[in-house]
Amino acid sequence: MKTIITFGTFDVFHVGHVNILQRAASLGDTLIVGVSTDQLNYNKKGRNPIYNQLDRMKIINSLRYVNLCFLEESLEKKEEYIRKYDADVLVMGDDWKGKFDHLSNLCEVVYLERTPSVSTTEIIEVISSAT
Ligand code: CTP
Repeated sequence: MKTIITFGTFDVFHVGHVNILQRAASLGDTLIVGVSTDQLNYNKKGRNPIYNQLDRMKIINSLRYVNLCFLEESLEKKEEYIRKYDADVLVMGDDWKGKFDHLSNLCEVVYLERTPSVSTTEIIEVISSAT
């Protein structure tokens, strides 16, 4: 049995999120997703997410190829989460390429290509400029 773990904010859920979660799930038997807390997202991106952490978790939990999700409180805790969930593979989008190579002593680290032309930030910008 192979356990995959991945992380992200997954705010304003879009097809790029679906694609990476589906592809991550196809690499193993169980998919576990760490959903960034509102505070972590604020620290990373300088703004609060549109959907709060409980709603974002609810959306991710409702996907049939996601087996479990939890709140990711800090980027530095990845090692702790990988150990806690006994993950065999860490999947990240290639916007993070190279950034988690130091974890390859714990598990396999795989970077998947991002879906082109879609991001939460861009969706928010398009909607804001239209109003
Ligand atoms: N992702 C992807 N393809 C996209 C957008 C996101 O594969 N077009 C992946 C990211 O690489 C990450 C996960 O989805 O592994 C969650 O990304 P997140 O940062 O929540 O989404 P973004 O749309 O990139 O958000 P933002 O624009 O706020 O950075």
